[in-house]
Amino acid sequence: MSNPIDDFTMAYQDTCDQITVLLVHGFPLDSAMWELQLQDLSDVARFIAPDLRGHGRSDSVPGPYSMKLFSDDIAGLLDHLNVNGPVVVCGLSMGGYIALDFYRRYPERVAGLILAATRAGADSDEGKTARDTAVADVRAKGTGSLVAAMLPKMLTPATMEEDDEIVDFVKEIMEGASVEGVVGALQAMRDRPDSVADLADIDVPTLIIHGAEDMLIPLSEAEAMYEAIPDSQLVIVPDAAHLPNLEQPDMFNDAVIDFLEDLTGEEFDHDDDHDHDHQH
Ligand code: MLT
Repeated sequence: MSNPIDDFTMAYQDTCDQITVLLVHGFPLDSAMWELQLQDLSDVARFIAPDLRGHGRSDSVPGPYSMKLFSDDIAGLLDHLNVNGPVVVCGLSMGGYIALDFYRRYPERVAGLILAATRAGADSDEGKTARDTAVADVRAKGTGSLVAAMLPKMLTPATMEEDDEIVDFVKEIMEGASVEGVVGALQAMRDRPDSVADLADIDVPTLIIHGAEDMLIPLSEAEAMYEAIPDSQLVIVPDAAHLPNLEQPDMFNDAVIDFLEDLTGEEFDHDDDHDHDHQH
């Protein structure tokens, strides 16, 4: 890089010229879920991983929340950090709903999309009713039963059985979720717009990553997005459920690196021999 400074051109190195990747967490989680990406991928990009309003260490503000509000919060964070150029938005599950909403509202701010363990459709009527039941339950009794019901669906049965470290890690994040945040997010997901019709118009490279054993969002949802988004690729992660970034971090991270290499034309040092890719 070089820049004119008064009477001479000064050359300099600045890692800020790396592409920025925004990591948007799922429900009821926070940015801690990206620990293995923040740890292992810091050489290849600048990562920004917010805690959404009501989640993690962000303020537990009362609702109503919406996908629009989450998207605007993220745009505000990018403004605050002076990130003006387009970024890669990587969202997992609810984070994917937000990524699609963000792309709809701020297409000029998006260089690429990574849609992990997510789907484009809105909630069915049955799904909306289930959100209302969950809201009433959480308001009456706290988040305990929601966490207990969701945890075994986040990870594969094998991980649940054998890997206490990951199970405790995910459980701890989920147990840290506030009532305000959980209620706000449930209502925002219940009311989120359907993004299926937008998929054909996505004109940035898109990586879709999905755990082969996802019990919360079936693999068919990822396959449908792959069919509909023109410049997309699909990576199916074996031995992973709803959190492929935590259950199979090497494969997840390799897929992200490959994607960023294609996007930026740069080459990063990594092992890139996974054979579960589908590419348009
Ligand atoms: C998530 O993991 O973010 C949520 O389970 C998604 C959802 O409930 O639709």
